Amino acid sequence: MLPTIKWEKDRIVMIDQRKLPEKEVYVECQDTIQVAEAIEKMIIRGAPAIGVAAAFGVALGLLKMKKDTDVEEEFNQILQRLERTRPTARNLFWVLERMKKTFEQNKSLALPQLKQRIVKEATDIEKEDIEINKQIGFWGKNLLQDGDSILTHCNTGALATAGHGTALGIIKDAFQEGKRIHVYADETRPLLQGARLTCWELEKENIPVTLITDNMAGHLMQKGAISKAVVGADRIARNGDTANKIGTYTVAVLAKEHGLPFYVAAPIQTIDMGLGKGSEIPIEERSAREVREFGGHCVTVPDVDVENPAFDITPAAYISAIITEKGICRSPYGKSLKDLFKKDKREERRRT
Ligand code: MRU
Repeated sequence: MLPTIKWEKDRIVMIDQRKLPEKEVYVECQDTIQVAEAIEKMIIRGAPAIGVAAAFGVALGLLKMKKDTDVEEEFNQILQRLERTRPTARNLFWVLERMKKTFEQNKSLALPQLKQRIVKEATDIEKEDIEINKQIGFWGKNLLQDGDSILTHCNTGALATAGHGTALGIIKDAFQEGKRIHVYADETRPLLQGARLTCWELEKENIPVTLITDNMAGHLMQKGAISKAVVGADRIARNGDTANKIGTYTVAVLAKEHGLPFYVAAPIQTIDMGLGKGSEIPIEERSAREVREFGGHCVTVPDVDVENPAFDITPAAYISAIITEKGICRSPYGKSLKDLFKKDKREERRRT
């Protein structure tokens, strides 16, 4: 499996995703600030991977604390710094809420024991994420058939998670089962996660992939070259509306127009039951430079006005199914997502 992020006792090491596939460079983070900056600069990216990095960021912050510090005050500052990194992926906030809960339940422990407990929670989150992705693959692979030509957008593989991947994990599992699968990877402007990361991962797995620019999908669907689309998610509202990488909505509209299934794959933690609909999901706006430049060179008039929303919302009506680690949800999502949460809570009660 690809080394997205690794905990090493008092630091984390992660592959610098900005440099791939040209260079395989590893970056070390030793404290919360370094982790927060790595998330902001997208050294690590992808909703589940951001969550795992944040968990380690919390653990590193606590490990740095001395005996005479106001542990609670500093812990809250750590959470606030990490909360400010990227606004859209629900996974980040889910992880920070879980770390806070663990802190609250254990804050009466002596500092060395509290540190151990928080580090354990972070490493558990990492391990669980790999298992969750494998379960998503288990359910999702049955939706893919021998001979499928699948369009995917952005990167949802091992690099976007602690390992294996969500949408790309499903594709890998179907392929490993012996299904002949061909992937069309959208390049995913402006940061090219599809061209740089998805193609790199698929090539390593020997899965046939064709790279296309983001404006080619309609043409290929019209020609009958694509049989379905599978993408990931950064946040899903309780009615099923889904935020994912900018350009996902276009793919969904095209898929509906051509009568093709459009699947979303995501862990339950990506579903935000606190939000009623997609328009309530905060959309990150990133630097204009990302759009004005290509490969580090300005390709337009330098002061042109730019919009750079990093995500868009696909309305639930365009989504054929949402694949999670607990099973597959279909429309009406208001009911199926609610039932999924009830099932998850029941199972958790049985475990504890
Ligand atoms: O801006 P990014 O690269 O973090 O955006 C990533 C995506 O939009 C992914 O599709 C999503 O996070 C799911 S990753 C399993």
